[in-house]
Amino acid sequence: MNLILEGFMGCGKSAIGRRIADRLEMPFIDTDAEIERKQRSSIADIFRDCGEEAFRQMETSQLYGLELSDVDAVISLGGGTPMRDANLPVLKRLGQVIYLKAAPEILLKRLEGERGDRPMLAGYELKKRVESLLEEREARYIEAADTIVELKGEDIDEDCLKVIRAYEGLR
Ligand code: S3P
Repeated sequence: MNLILEGFMGCGKSAIGRRIADRLEMPFIDTDAEIERKQRSSIADIFRDCGEEAFRQMETSQLYGLELSDVDAVISLGGGTPMRDANLPVLKRLGQVIYLKAAPEILLKRLEGERGDRPMLAGYELKKRVESLLEEREARYIEAADTIVELKGEDIDEDCLKVIRAYEGLR
């Protein structure tokens, strides 16, 4: 089964996913990076040139594409991927979904320097935007998840270990 990481922007999906994939000797797929590679464009430019809806369609197509692979991988999703209703059954079929839950303070700290790369945050007052998106999304992250891992966000190795244990508990 694929190990799928979901969670809010800045929670560490990609960094944790890459490390876990190394440890478990599984391929690592970052869906945002795959979209950027295929479109030959950054996420920010895709939002600017094609709009959010087109990007969301690319996310869904990307998930369908992953269903065609028979190699198990660690897959890190974009923060908004589980929000689309059509994506939920695909995620369920694809593998075990782990929600990486990080405290808002940790998210805010990480996102402060990286807002420019994240069109969902650009132009907003960061704290308010993160709080309102989190409120909108939290229930969906929980609904999509097979299990939840609360991240401390202090020591990445410790957080990775927790995620690996959770994954092993699901198999
Ligand atoms: C988004 C999160 C981003 C990226 C896009 C939209 C979102 O991924 O997919 O900017 O709606 O939360 P990260 O969670 O990896 O930042």
